[in-house]
Amino acid sequence: MEIHSTVKGLRESLKKYKLKNQTIGFVPTMGYLHEGHFNLMEESKKRNDITVVSIFVNPLQFNDIKDFEKYPKNEEGDIESLTKLGIDILFLPSSEEIYGQVGEAKIEMKIPALMKNLCAPSRIGHFEGVIHIVSKLFNYVQPDKVYFGLKDYQQFLIIKELIHNLSFPIEIIGVETVREKSGLAMSSRNSRLTKEESEDATLVYRSMKMAEKNSGKKNITIPTLKEIIKEILLSSNMIKIDYIEILDPDTLENKEFVSGKILIAIAVFLGNVRLIDNIRFEV
Ligand code: PAF
Repeated sequence: MEIHSTVKGLRESLKKYKLKNQTIGFVPTMGYLHEGHFNLMEESKKRNDITVVSIFVNPLQFNDIKDFEKYPKNEEGDIESLTKLGIDILFLPSSEEIYGQVGEAKIEMKIPALMKNLCAPSRIGHFEGVIHIVSKLFNYVQPDKVYFGLKDYQQFLIIKELIHNLSFPIEIIGVETVREKSGLAMSSRNSRLTKEESEDATLVYRSMKMAEKNSGKKNITIPTLKEIIKEILLSSNMIKIDYIEILDPDTLENKEFVSGKILIAIAVFLGNVRLIDNIRFEV
């Protein structure tokens, strides 16, 4: 596996593949890789000639500096896993390399229709930071296809719209969430949970599945489904709810009735770790 820490080195290396018209799949990450990431990479490997992975903990997308500082890192382990997986190129830049030249005149992009609920109000500036780094990475790698996990469903929709709005010649592929046997969605943040917190974190998925199970009942309402979820989550005295939303998965608008396509999305705090998860289904 080639490892590049500079944009120049990365671009030079990619030239040889582009000249041969080879297709490039790209998986951007913030490292501390787990099965969820590997699943994205396997998808990319199946459908492209070469796969590029980036590891960069993007300071711009953290609204809380403590969260940024505590973000888990495992550079050596990640490199070993990526090598074993047969990834072709790893882009591993420093903050200086990415933001050294930007300074105060940084561009800030918003997609207001997709940034008014879910994680946007509780993480001010987060999606602007994601849009900024993802645009830069797309520009550096110029991939044919990009792979994003559906656990971060709002992020997936925002990037999809970014690609569409700004006409990036890129296809985005959303890959389903990988879960522990317990149902807990895989996330780098899980490593910061205590054993007891990890056990209670499984209530997140269980509560959404219970709501899904009840969604077929006659005359069931959105507030009742939210109540079912809330009751299950609050059976743990360690869980603090950030939001429970039931929305249209295409537009992120509130659902009035329990019918058609449904997105249930949840964010909770366990101690100071914030976890998100979602399911999508049709009634
Ligand atoms: O989902 C992530 O890990 C990050 O938001 C991303 C897409 C790598 C941008 O920093």
